Amino acid sequence: MRVALLTGGGDCPGLNAVIRAVVRTIHNGGGECIGLLEGWRGAIEGNFMPLKAQETDEIIARGGTILGSSRTNPYKRVEDAQRVMDTFKRLDLSALVAIGGDDTLGVANKLYNQFKLPVVGVPKTIDNDLSCTDFTFGFDTSINIVMEAVDRLRTTAESHRRVMVIETMGRNAGWIACFSGIATAADFTLIPEIEVDLDRMCDVLSQRRAKGKLYGLIIVSEGAKLPQQGKVTQSHEVDEFGHEKLGGVGQTIADIIENRTGIETRCVTLGHLQRGGPPSAYDRVLGTRLGIHAARLVLNREYGKMVALRGMQIVSFALAEAVGTLRTLDLEFMREADEFFRSWDTA
Ligand code: F6P
Repeated sequence: MRVALLTGGGDCPGLNAVIRAVVRTIHNGGGECIGLLEGWRGAIEGNFMPLKAQETDEIIARGGTILGSSRTNPYKRVEDAQRVMDTFKRLDLSALVAIGGDDTLGVANKLYNQFKLPVVGVPKTIDNDLSCTDFTFGFDTSINIVMEAVDRLRTTAESHRRVMVIETMGRNAGWIACFSGIATAADFTLIPEIEVDLDRMCDVLSQRRAKGKLYGLIIVSEGAKLPQQGKVTQSHEVDEFGHEKLGGVGQTIADIIENRTGIETRCVTLGHLQRGGPPSAYDRVLGTRLGIHAARLVLNREYGKMVALRGMQIVSFALAEAVGTLRTLDLEFMREADEFFRSWDTA
């Protein structure tokens, strides 16, 4: 059995743990693996590297992906989906493990439906916004990076009696912002799922200042929508899957706070720092478990499926069921966070 792997979309800590686990499990089952380079681009163009169990044994601690990644969409140009199938034949492949977010897995699902491509999906994203799985690997590392950054920003905000606005990633889901806000005792958190209440946010900051807390921390998700204006984008360009480049809402919020409250306010956009560096222990373990179970599906020739975390178990779902629906933040987390978004004397 000759199995290909690819990693598509934004990189994410834990991808190499998945690659290592798939390679080892397929090797243990008597097969061999190759890695298609830079996501679906490698599948279209046939670029690949060999993946051996011994050589991939120590990649678990490395961030990013040893295979490279891209946001290439084989359904963007009519001939490219067929080129993926041609590569599959030419390289004499038995199966493909596609590791990615909704875009990558959406393509896997289409190829499975259209050509019966023997494919298994592994969900990945720091945004934690994929259906059918409780958590995606990458998310834990990401919120720990945000937490560490905010802990550092707190000391300077406190020294200078400033408000710091921290813009996080997450696209149209507030998981990263909400969890980071809880973990860092933020004064207020703004997410895409809930209408931004600028009045309440500014009141909380002013009231807390009047009560002696001379600095403030605001976490804002890049996809948060401003009243009237909506989402803030860096440009009107979209990627091959139609996604706009978000970014800039943090600075807008910082300007509003400074104008309305008179408190000096600065913005820090954490950007790609949130996807960089070594994965947390949790993400290494989750990535490893997902990789083992994806490889087992391949060895059992159960295709058209995606592995997922449900509670403590690794389970599988039909790809068709898992893709296409954005899993926004469970608002119960925000209701819990909201207990802290008020001054001390409002009860
Ligand atoms: O999906 C992961 C993510 O990091 C989003 O949070 C963010 O909006 C996007 O990717 C950024 O993509 P790129 O690295 O292509 O700018």
